[in-house]
Amino acid sequence: MSSTKRYTVTAALPYANGPVHIGHLAGCYLPADIYVRYLRQNGKDVKFICGSDEHGVAIIMKAKAEGVSPREIVDKYHGIMKSAFKEFGISFDVYSRTSKEIHHQTASDFFLNLYEKGSFEEKETAQYYDPEAKQFLADRYIEGTCPNCGFENAYGDQCENCGTSLSPMDLKNPRSRLSGAQPILKKTTHWFLPLDHLSEKIKAYIQDHKDWKPNVYGQCMSWLDDAGGLQARSMTRDLDWGIKVPLKDADGKVLYVWFDAPIGYISATKELLGEDWEKYWKEENTELIHFIGKDNIVFHCIIFPAMLMEHGAFILPTQVPANEFLNLEGKKISTSRNWAVWLHEYLGDFKGKQDALRYTLCANAPETKDNDFTWKDFQARNNNELVAIFGNLVNRVLVLMQKYYGGEIPKPQALTAADKALLEMVESMPGQVGTSLERFRFREALTTYMRLARAGNKYLAEEEPWKKVKTDADRTATIMYVAAQAVAQLAHVGEPFLPFTASKLRAFLGLELKDWSSLSVREFLLPGAKIEKGALLFEKVENDAVEAQLQKLEKSRALENTQPKVPSLKEEIPFEAFTKTDIRVGTILEAQAVPKTDKLLQLLVDIGIEKRTVVSGIAGHYAPEDIIGLQVLVLTNLAPRKIRGVESKGMVLMAEDAEGRLVFTQPSARMANGSAVR
Ligand code: 2FM
Ligand code: ZN
Repeated sequence: MSSTKRYTVTAALPYANGPVHIGHLAGCYLPADIYVRYLRQNGKDVKFICGSDEHGVAIIMKAKAEGVSPREIVDKYHGIMKSAFKEFGISFDVYSRTSKEIHHQTASDFFLNLYEKGSFEEKETAQYYDPEAKQFLADRYIEGTCPNCGFENAYGDQCENCGTSLSPMDLKNPRSRLSGAQPILKKTTHWFLPLDHLSEKIKAYIQDHKDWKPNVYGQCMSWLDDAGGLQARSMTRDLDWGIKVPLKDADGKVLYVWFDAPIGYISATKELLGEDWEKYWKEENTELIHFIGKDNIVFHCIIFPAMLMEHGAFILPTQVPANEFLNLEGKKISTSRNWAVWLHEYLGDFKGKQDALRYTLCANAPETKDNDFTWKDFQARNNNELVAIFGNLVNRVLVLMQKYYGGEIPKPQALTAADKALLEMVESMPGQVGTSLERFRFREALTTYMRLARAGNKYLAEEEPWKKVKTDADRTATIMYVAAQAVAQLAHVGEPFLPFTASKLRAFLGLELKDWSSLSVREFLLPGAKIEKGALLFEKVENDAVEAQLQKLEKSRALENTQPKVPSLKEEIPFEAFTKTDIRVGTILEAQAVPKTDKLLQLLVDIGIEKRTVVSGIAGHYAPEDIIGLQVLVLTNLAPRKIRGVESKGMVLMAEDAEGRLVFTQPSARMANGSAVR
């Protein structure tokens, strides 16, 4: 049945900097897919939109880590993600990518629209700049000590140790992750979206949506009510990968990835529909629903709506169902520590078992709080629920139907209370499941669905047609008829949750997929209908398969424990750059504390050619009297700097460990002062 209402359903565009893992699936792709399949089965006009998010620092960092270009990274991961989603049955209508021309054009136009309206505030601000790498530092490029927990390797946007979100200025001892250099503040111009001025409008919009999930609504209100309220946010960045800011004099500047990515939903719709796209973004009778993980709430509930409001031509998101996080075996999923179950690996290891994972992730979805995925639970859900309950019911019905009636549905006789109870459940289940799905309660929906499988199984166990067949033909026929209706209903309502199984089952039963609105009946398989003998729907997950997965994780854990905690490697430099450094052997002649500091020592070093004053931050590690006479390595051609009033000419080279302990680097035998290091 069609209606004029339209649905634009999006799932967060995943960064193309790594494959998809189960956390992503449980967070948004699986619930979005279940919801969309449900809408489609209801005859709704729905478009399911997604694609790869190919800009931003996440991509650049990955490219640096792999020593390849950002383009190579996005090409690689876009391909892996796209095919894994498809194989897993995530039924996007379009899976696009933000590096496409259509998206660059759409995002540029959007930016220009706001720019020409005067929506942006152009501001010059001081931002961290790496004087060695000669570039502005994105928040993720800066590392330092967390002001909250003291963790020394917190990033400029977040401390991975305590989870606090930070801004780069919050970090103590900031350093560039590109070069290790201490960043300096340098002025730069950017275009800010004045969320502060828009906050009343945004608040009214959020308060209009008290129907949003409590975790989503609550997080929005706390952003709005937070000390100081909303702040203007820069919509541009100093980077060389992304969508160029479409203005004159904006060289080296690109759109902020969180400006361009949500516009990616619009570009992907254009790609899918051509001119028809506008209906799905501009007409009031369209529901715009964004499925996301909880870390994306502010971007979809506040920033993107603010952009859309400013633009004016678009509808606003009507629902933003966000899930919490899924952990793995009790630990936070981590891409860098390889603590994850990667979808493409799962699909290779568990061929044909898409629905087992869909089932486990839905049954255990982190809908209201973080949840844990364990391989034992996966095995138990597959073996004890899908195999032992659902599979068992279906198998008994198909096998007995063949055996007793050659696969032809028999005619029922008088119904008992037990028969009626099961048929009532067959009739009422779709409505209940639908109500839960419309409230984004996927676990509840699945539980209701499985209740019918459990009831059907119990019904057969209690009615024992395999015994009655010897004595009571009428009763046996009735039981088999009733049980067959339950199985048929499972094949229809299973479509959103377990699409592979449901379609196999419908094929066995000779059923077409029915519109949801026609499911609230008791009888699907009328007497005389022929069904096939079928095959097993689910296979057991054996212990050794689970063991193999646990061992894989164990390897990641072991690797992490043996890896020393050292800073990441700096960028490659040409040999000529190295030859420009002048490093010499020198001997410390004098050492004294620099007054009013507790970190600095003033050294006099003989470098063979001359004696140099060098200020060094080692007072916390060496007493002046202990180092006189030591031979050390000195970088001699560093531009002189005044430190606490003392001119320092050169730098004594030290080694630093993860605890911040400093020791001298020295020649392993005594050498003439001035000997060159090469
Ligand atoms: O968190 C992420 O993975 C982002 N790439 C999500 C973007 S959602 C949307 F705005 F495109
Ligand atoms: Zn911290």
